[in-house]
Amino acid sequence: MLSIERSVGCGNVSETALHKEVALAGWVHRRRDHGGLIFVDLRDRSGLMQIVFNPDFNTQAHDLAHTLRSEYVINVKGVVVKRSPETINNNMATGAYELQVQQLTVLNSAKALPFQLDDSDSVDEELRLKYRYLDLRRETMQRNFALRNDLIFAMRSFLIERGFYEIETPLLTKNTPEGAREFIVPSRINQTHFYALPQSPQLYKQLLMASGIERYFQVAKCFRDEDLRADRQPEFTQLDMEMSFINEQDIQTIIEDLLKTIWQKVYNVTIPTPILRMPYKEAMARFGSDKPDMRFGMEITDCSSLFKTTELSFIKSVLDKGGKVGTVHVENHEFARSEVDGMVDVAQSFGAKGLLWIRFKDGKVDSPVSKFLPADFFEQAQKLFPTLTQKSTLFLAAGTYEEAWTLLGRIRLHLGKKLQLIDENKHAFLWVTDFPLFEYDAESRCYNAVHHPFTSPQDGWEQQDPKDMLARAYDIVLNGTELGGGSIRIHNRETQDKVFKLLGLDADTMDRKFGFLLRALELGFPPHGGIALGIDRLLMILTQSASIRDVIAFPKTQRGFDPMMEAPSQVEEAQLKEYGLKFLMHKK
Ligand code: AMO
Repeated sequence: MLSIERSVGCGNVSETALHKEVALAGWVHRRRDHGGLIFVDLRDRSGLMQIVFNPDFNTQAHDLAHTLRSEYVINVKGVVVKRSPETINNNMATGAYELQVQQLTVLNSAKALPFQLDDSDSVDEELRLKYRYLDLRRETMQRNFALRNDLIFAMRSFLIERGFYEIETPLLTKNTPEGAREFIVPSRINQTHFYALPQSPQLYKQLLMASGIERYFQVAKCFRDEDLRADRQPEFTQLDMEMSFINEQDIQTIIEDLLKTIWQKVYNVTIPTPILRMPYKEAMARFGSDKPDMRFGMEITDCSSLFKTTELSFIKSVLDKGGKVGTVHVENHEFARSEVDGMVDVAQSFGAKGLLWIRFKDGKVDSPVSKFLPADFFEQAQKLFPTLTQKSTLFLAAGTYEEAWTLLGRIRLHLGKKLQLIDENKHAFLWVTDFPLFEYDAESRCYNAVHHPFTSPQDGWEQQDPKDMLARAYDIVLNGTELGGGSIRIHNRETQDKVFKLLGLDADTMDRKFGFLLRALELGFPPHGGIALGIDRLLMILTQSASIRDVIAFPKTQRGFDPMMEAPSQVEEAQLKEYGLKFLMHKK
C-alpha cells in the first residue's frame, strides 16, 4: 500500500516551517534539471513550492528525480530552508523558501500532455474540454472554483441565518414554462410519456409556499434547450428563492443585502443601497435595453422632430407609419470615414438594414444624406443635443420604436466598448421594474408572458388592454448583464384563470397542464413572491471571465456537446425498445 504523508500545502509553506521537516504532495509543475541539482516547482491546490534534489541531501531521491516529468504526482519529505537572496522569487507566495528533499515517492506518472497547462488559453477550447480535468488544474481555474465554493457557501449561510430552508425539488418533472424549449426524458414504466427537466423550480417553489414553508431557497440546477451564447449554458445553476407574506421591496432588500455581503467579501467594497430602480419603459427609452449597462452614458435620444419635413423618403415613410428616428450622440471623437462605414456593417451584423451617420466638422455636415439635410441642421440638432459640437457624430436608426431602439441599444454598447467609455472597475447595479405582463407574438398571433404565466399583474390590469398591462416583476442587472429575475406571483385561482385565458389557454388545456396549481390556489395559498439569481453569470462577472464555461466545472460547448464524456451519445436499439421508442430516421 502506498503510504502518503503530507504536513502542509505547497502554497502554505511559510516562516513557521523554516528549518523544520515537512512533507508535501502534489504535481510536478515545472522541472529544471541542472545535472547536479534538480529543481521542481511542486503544485497542489494551495499553490507552488520549489523543491530541490541534491545528491548530498539524498542520492536515491536525486537519482529518481531525473525520471520526473510534468504532471507526475509525487510525495516528498525534507527540510525547509531560506533561498539565497539572489534566487528569491517575488512572484511566488513561497518564493523565499525551498525544500531540500530527503525522500521522494512517485505516486503516479503522466504521459506527455495533449496541451501545456501554462498556455491553455491559446489551445482550442474543444480540446481543453475533452481533457477538462487538466484544464481545471490551471491556476485561474482553481481560483474560479475556490470563489465558486466561497460564493455558494456565503449564499447558503446568509439565507439560513435569515430563516430560509434549503429544499431540493425534483429534476424529473413536468414542463415549467419559462419561455425556452425543454429537455425531455422518456419514461420506461409509463411508455409514450415523458418527464421534462425543469427550466427552473418555479412551480415547486410556489407549491412550497402553499405548503407553509414561508422561506425557501435552493442552489438549483436548471435546464433550457436554447441557443447558447457566451453567458448561456443548457444546464446552469440558480440561487432560487421564494417567500410568503412579502412584497417586491422585501425581496429586493434581501437581494441587496446578499449582494452587499458578497461584494464585501470578494472586493471589500460596500455597494451603496438602495440600488437604483428604473421602470422597463424608461430603460428601453434611454438605453434601448431591458438590462442597460449603467457604467456609461451616451443615452438614446428621440430625434424624429428633426425630420418632420424631411424629403428623405425612407425616413418619411417610417414617420408616416408612426415609426421613430432615434440617435446615439458620440461627443469628442473624430471618426475616420472607415470607422463610420464600419458602424454600418456592425448594425447589419445585428440584423438591421442599415445605420445612418451624420458627422459635424469645421462648420460642415458630412453624411451620406447631407444634401437632404437643411442648412441649419446643426443649430436645429443643438436644441435636442445641448452638448453637440463640431466634433460630434450622430448615429441614427429609423423604424418601429422597438426595432430602432433595440438596434441603438446594441450600437450604444458597441461604441461604449470600442471607445473605451466603460470603466471596467465599476459595478453598476440596477433594478429594472414594471415589466409588461405580455408580449405579442405576431407569428402565432397570441400573447406570451414576458416573465412567466404565474406572475401577478399590477393593479388596474383588468381595465387595460393586454399590451398595456404591467407585471409585478423585477430584474436585477449588473453592468448590462441580467443577474436575476423574479416577481410577485398570482395566489388566487380567479386571477390565474384570467391570465391563462389571455394567454390563449382553454379550460381543458389549463386543467391538463396546470390542474395541480389551480387546485392548490383554491386551498389556502398565501401571497408570495421570489427571485432567482444566475450563479454562473454572477461568477462570470466576479472572476472577469469572458465565457460562462470558465466558471462551470464540466460545461457544454457552444453546440451543447460535452467533448469529455462525449454526450449526448447514441443508445443501443435494445435500450430504445425498453422505452418503446423507435427512430423515424436512420442513425448516422
Ligand atoms: P429567469 O428565467 O429570469 O427566471 O432566470 C433567472 C436567472 O437565471 C440565469 N439564466 C441563465 N444562466 C445561464 N444560462 C442560461 N441558459 C440561463 N437562463 C437564465 C440568469 C437569469 O437572470 N423562475 C424564474 C425566477 C423567478 O421568477 O423567481 C426564472 O427562472 O441570470
